[in-house]
Amino acid sequence: MYESWLRPLLFTIDPEQVHNLTIKLGKIICQSQFGLRRLSAWFAYDHPYLQQEVMGMKFQNPLGLAAGFDKNAELLPLWQAIGFGFAEVGTITPQPQTGNPRPRLFRLVEDEAILNRMGFNNRGAAAIRESIIKPHFPVGINLGKQKETPIDLAVQDYLVSFNLLQEKGDYFVINVSSPNTPNLRDLQAIKYLDEIISALTSVNVQRKPLLVKIAPDLSDPDILEIVDLCLARGVAGIIATNTTIAKQNLKSSRFVAEPGGISGAPLQARSTAVISLIYRHSQGRLPIIGVGGIFSAADAWQKLTAGASLLQVYTGLVYRGPGLIREILQGITERMQQQNITDLKAIIGSTIDRVTET
Ligand SMILES: Cc1cc2nc3c(=O)[nH]c(=O)nc-3n(C[C@H](O)[C@H](O)[C@H](O)COP(=O)(O)O)c2cc1C
Repeated sequence: MYESWLRPLLFTIDPEQVHNLTIKLGKIICQSQFGLRRLSAWFAYDHPYLQQEVMGMKFQNPLGLAAGFDKNAELLPLWQAIGFGFAEVGTITPQPQTGNPRPRLFRLVEDEAILNRMGFNNRGAAAIRESIIKPHFPVGINLGKQKETPIDLAVQDYLVSFNLLQEKGDYFVINVSSPNTPNLRDLQAIKYLDEIISALTSVNVQRKPLLVKIAPDLSDPDILEIVDLCLARGVAGIIATNTTIAKQNLKSSRFVAEPGGISGAPLQARSTAVISLIYRHSQGRLPIIGVGGIFSAADAWQKLTAGASLLQVYTGLVYRGPGLIREILQGITERMQQQNITDLKAIIGSTIDRVTET
């Protein structure tokens, strides 16, 4: 239904307007227990095989909403109702930000992709702390730096937001990989990343899992250095990956020169390769949230078998609609049944030969 009539209609309207409309409509639905129950009946899918414990948190299923859709944490009950096993909100900065000038969100339909240069538009950590209503499923809070903050002071931004939001989230993400905030990706350098991880760890009194979200454009050796740092510092996991700035293979040639990050199909292969790289190098010791170009159960399965313990979607939701959630979860369950596997742990990283690590 979504792909045959709703999507063609929505795709005639400006992408950011559709996004804002979705948030408005979602907020209305969140006020109604009846509405949420209806959504749940239509979209949610439960199966005991999909449940697991990761990083000390219990997940009903491995599929979550990726950061950037619900930047202000306004629709958490809705994400649970449509069947997600968890949701990540943000990116949140200490102070409110309006983000980059519009237009800043584009559909690349030929590529099944999105280009965005939103620039961390959000209401700021203090306001979000007051309004967030946490449902009974794991909620991740994704943190970033303010646009104007110089890179040497960035650690303070992560600290301020983390201190304000610590009891509101189940896990926290150090986002050092969005391409739309000047110098943010430079924070992936070991010196800066170590400083941020150490600072957050020292105030993490509730021992909330801290994760690092990385860019797909890093070289493999740089990724391995980050993995080693995460293992050494007790980071709970890695989110692989954020959007890519590689645009040379796009069919939508008019976007090649547009600044911003690409998500969706063009990101899929690299994101999966990064997952396997991390899984192999860490010998499966570092939980991975796999994200980038998941549009089907087959795509989800590929990322799980490459080493992701959990998955996230954003662009797939825009192109396939909320029915994608059930389709993926049902597809994973069916594949497990066909292979007589009852525990997700048995498929995670199953195509990766851990012994070959040098
Ligand atoms: C419009 C848009 C905004 C995004 N904003 C954020 C963000 O604020 N923080 C973040 O960590 N990732 C952000 N992302 C990246 C997604 O979380 C995800 O890593 C990426 O889109 C790849 O997944 P996908 O191919 O399923 O979309 C954004 C993505 C899109 C499309």
